This record gives sequence, C-alpha cells and structure tokens, in this order.
Amino acid sequence: MQISGSFLTFSLFLAFILISRASSAHNKNDFLECLNLQFQKSNSESDSIYTPQNASYSSVLQSTIRNLRPASNSGQRPFVIITPEHESQIQAAIYCSKKYGIQLKVRSGGHDYEGLSYISQTPFFIVDMRNLRSISIDTEKNTAWVQTGATLGELYYTIAEKSKTLAFTAGVCPTVGVGGHFSGGGYGMMSRKHGIAADHIIDAKLIDANGQIHDRESMGEDLFWAIRGGGGTSFGIVLSFKVKLIVIPETVTVFNVTRTLDQNATQIVHRWQYVAHKINENLLLRLFLRSINSSNGKRTIRASFTSLYLGPVDDLLPIMQEKFPELGLVKEDCTEMPWIESTVFFAGFRGQSLDVLLNRTQVFVYFKGKSDYVKQPIPEYGLKSIWKFLNEEDVYRAELQFSPYGGIIDDISESEIPFPHRSGNIFMIHYIVVWSEEENAYSQRHINWIRRLYSFMARYVSKSPREAYFNYRDLDIGINKIEGNTSYKQASVWGFKYFNNNFRRLVHIKNKVDPTNFFRNEQSIPPVSLW
Ligand code: FDA
Repeated sequence: MQISGSFLTFSLFLAFILISRASSAHNKNDFLECLNLQFQKSNSESDSIYTPQNASYSSVLQSTIRNLRPASNSGQRPFVIITPEHESQIQAAIYCSKKYGIQLKVRSGGHDYEGLSYISQTPFFIVDMRNLRSISIDTEKNTAWVQTGATLGELYYTIAEKSKTLAFTAGVCPTVGVGGHFSGGGYGMMSRKHGIAADHIIDAKLIDANGQIHDRESMGEDLFWAIRGGGGTSFGIVLSFKVKLIVIPETVTVFNVTRTLDQNATQIVHRWQYVAHKINENLLLRLFLRSINSSNGKRTIRASFTSLYLGPVDDLLPIMQEKFPELGLVKEDCTEMPWIESTVFFAGFRGQSLDVLLNRTQVFVYFKGKSDYVKQPIPEYGLKSIWKFLNEEDVYRAELQFSPYGGIIDDISESEIPFPHRSGNIFMIHYIVVWSEEENAYSQRHINWIRRLYSFMARYVSKSPREAYFNYRDLDIGINKIEGNTSYKQASVWGFKYFNNNFRRLVHIKNKVDPTNFFRNEQSIPPVSLW
C-alpha cells in the first residue's frame, strides 16, 4: 500500500496535536499536585485553590471582571484560581508555575480594559490578590502601607476613618484595584495639585520571578522605578505599596454643571481647552461629553463639567469668575463637603453612605476604551466633527472624557517615573463605548465606531509617538507575539506610546530582573538586551 506524502504529514500533525494536548493535561495535573503539596508544606489551606470543578470557581472568576468584552471574545479561562492569604502561597505558585511551564497572571481589582489579568491565549492560572488587602495608616508620618488586593474605595475609606485632613491622589472608581492602578499611573480629581498615585509611592514589597520577596532597598532603585508607572505585571507580583499621603483642607467644593449645544457647549468646551490646564491647581475641571436627547426630542451634545476645588466655595467663585466666566458658575451649583464625601460624589453615588466605598460588587458592562493626549487646542470645527461622531452612536452609549493636565504634573520630569505624560500636555482624552449583554451580537459595530473616531482624531492629538495612557490599556495599539519571543522593535510599536523614551529603560530593567520572561502578557515589556 502506498501512503501519500500529504496523508503522512496530516497524520504526524494529528499525532503532534494529541501528544501536546495530553502533555498539557499532564502538566496541569502535575501543576495542581505541586500546588497542593507546596501549600501543605507551608501549612496553608488548600481551600484558596479553585478549579472549574469547584462550585465557587465561576463566581470567584467573574466577581471582579469589570469588562465582559475580552472574556466573551476569545481566550481561555484559567484552569486554576488561587486567592492567597499569605505570601508563601504566592511563592509556592511561582515555584510550581516555573516547574510545569504554566503561565501565571496576577489580578488585583480586575479592571484591566483588555482583561489581561484574567484571560490568555495559552493555558494559565490566576493569582487573585483579593484576600491580601490590609491597609495601615501612620498619621504621624502621613504614610500608608496598602496591600495590592485593596480597592481605591477601601483605601479612601480607611484614610478618612483616621483623619479629616489626610487623603490620597488616585482614580475615581472605588472598585479599581491598587495593584494595577498604582503600578500603571493613577490619575484622579486631585492630580493637578498632587500628581498621580505612582508619584507618591515611597516603598514597595514585591515577589520576583525566583520567589524572593524584596522591599525598595533590596530590589534596587531601577526596579523600584519601573513598578511606579511601568506596570507591575512585567516585573513581579507587587504585594504592597507604601505611599505618602497628602494633606487636604477639611472642606472641599464640588460641582457638576452641564451645558448643551443650545447653551453654547461648543464655544465653552473650546474655551475650556485654554483654561483647564492653567487655572489654579487646587481646581480640577473634568469634562464629560455625550450625545443625548434634548427636551424637544432632538439629539444634542451634553458637556458635563465635573469638578473638585480643594477649598471653600467662596474662594472658588472669584477664580471661576476671572478665568472661566463663560461657564457661568454660580454658588447654587456648588456643594461644600469633606474630601471623603467628594469621592462618593465623583463615583456617582451622591447622597449615599460612605460604606458604598467598601462595596466590591462590580457593575458589569461590555466596553471598549482608548486614549489620547492633546497638546494643542482642538479648533471649534474639530469639536463639531467630534459631535457628529458622537451622534452616530446611540444616545448615552459613548463618552469622551477630557481630563486636564498642568499644575504639578508639568513640574515633574518625564523620566522621574515611567509615566511620561508631563509638561506640554493640555489634557488626556478617554474614549469609551459601552453595550449590554443583549447587544453583544452587535459589538463589532461599536468597536468599529470607536476605531473610526480614533483614526479621525489623529490630526488633533500627540504624534511621534501618538501617546496613550497605560492604565487605559488598548491592544489595538500593538501586541506581543503570543508564542515565542517579542523583539524590541515589535514591542516598541506600543511601548513608546505608553512610555515615550522611558520604554528603553523599562526593557533594560526587565532584561536584568526577569531575563526568562516569566512575568509576561500580551503587552508586557520584553527582556531584550539593548547594549
Ligand atoms: P487588574 O487586576 O485587571 O490588573 C491590571 C493589570 O495590572 C494586569 O496586567 C495585572 O496583571 C496587573 N496587576 C494587577 N495587580 C498586580 C500586582 N499586584 N502586581 C503586579 N501586577 C499586577 N484609571 C485612572 O487612572 N483613573 C481613573 O479614574 C480610572 N477609573 C477607572 C474606572 C473603571 C470603571 C475602570 C474599568 C478603569 C478605570 N481606570 C482608571 C483604569 C485603571 O486604573 C486600570 O484599569 C488599572 O490597571 C486597574 O487595576 P486593577 O488592579 O483593578 O486591574
């Protein structure tokens, strides 16, 4: 009997698939055995190990998935989730992961825009930091140690329990995790006065690829620099951060004033671009733009000026009158409150008790987000074109957030930490489009819409590189090779956008601390030797 060449090739291919499947199943079983054994050795409970056979597996997996889009698209589910209560369990997980070649992903708050903390193209398991979330505040030294499984809401709440005049500068959404947020930047309502979260990190505890635990001194200044904005995930598992708290007045003022097109929204937004980054740095005038139905049923654009002033209303009004009279702010628009209540206000829970900050329950949505940096004001005709784009989508579905820079952000050098977006930036644009489970069949329509808008915006935003904010992760701007090694050139496509020239230093540090690329994901820094 003659066997054709193509049949032989096909048979070999089939055999290869079957063998790799069998060996991958073997590896998984061996890995699980290894994990159980290591946990026993360190006297840890194995009830912090969840496999798909466990009744709680799905709820543990899903509980912190904020964006359902990445999980619904593609990628595998983790075959194990561990929720360590002690750092020795993470060391055990690293040991077994290396031994059996199973990819490790770490998740703190689960808010990654592309789901990189909980999906992957290759078999993987999750180290979920939810049980490592203690926070200790030192009101004499104005510092705090916070474990990375804590949320921003828990941190804000705990600080406010201890002091009325201490606070921290970080993001707005209370369920965001400290682990991803601090290691990737952390912009919030006080950033013009106090910078971003990563600017205030003064120490950290991290487990490296060898399972060694380090503090700032033992990890060295290079690695300590890298995890303050370069994303923790490329360099190790950050257990906790020590941060310098900031001093704030007992009373702050908030307002949310909206203007539609027939109330001169276009002209006011245009003017905002000349004012918001230069105005008194105690004031952060954030701008949210949406297409809505007006009272006469016609589509219009609503510009919401959502703002925080670190001081009383009587100090705020003359500033607004002098620098931004076009908005027409009056005392009745403003509310004075303690800072901690303002965090509830900006999170959209106005009037609710402070306990809402401790609620870790997620609002699940499908969304796609992108970001840009603006260095020159967008002309009025450019804004009108943006309105057309917003009107193409359904009402309320899409939003542009304009977050002003300037203030202290301008005074910090671009290379102080890996977050490079400093002097010269007027504001950051965050584009977002959301949809529900029922609408997910039409997701491509919304994704195409945001990509078209992003492409149109190229003429108005930063160039060479077209900068993007790492914490608004966007795989459209570039991705590592799924298998094999990613070259410096390939990673530069996205790396320079997030980090500008700091990207080179990040690559150098990665090569030094994790040359085998143990900590990796679709957008992690590749360990390449550059010199
Ligand atoms: P998640 O757990 O998904 O981790 C994100 C990345 O960090 C992953 O790659 C993960 O592996 C890695 N990682 C997590 N923990 C780690 C650890 N302990 N050690 C090492 N690596 C770790 N941003 C902003 O600046 N200001 C804002 O106001 C907001 N608001 C906001 C609202 C909402 C609803 C969302 C979904 C997101 C934001 N963000 C934001 C963006 C947010 O800062 C960003 O998504 C963070 O990376 C989220 O961190 P998590 O720990 O929650 O995510």
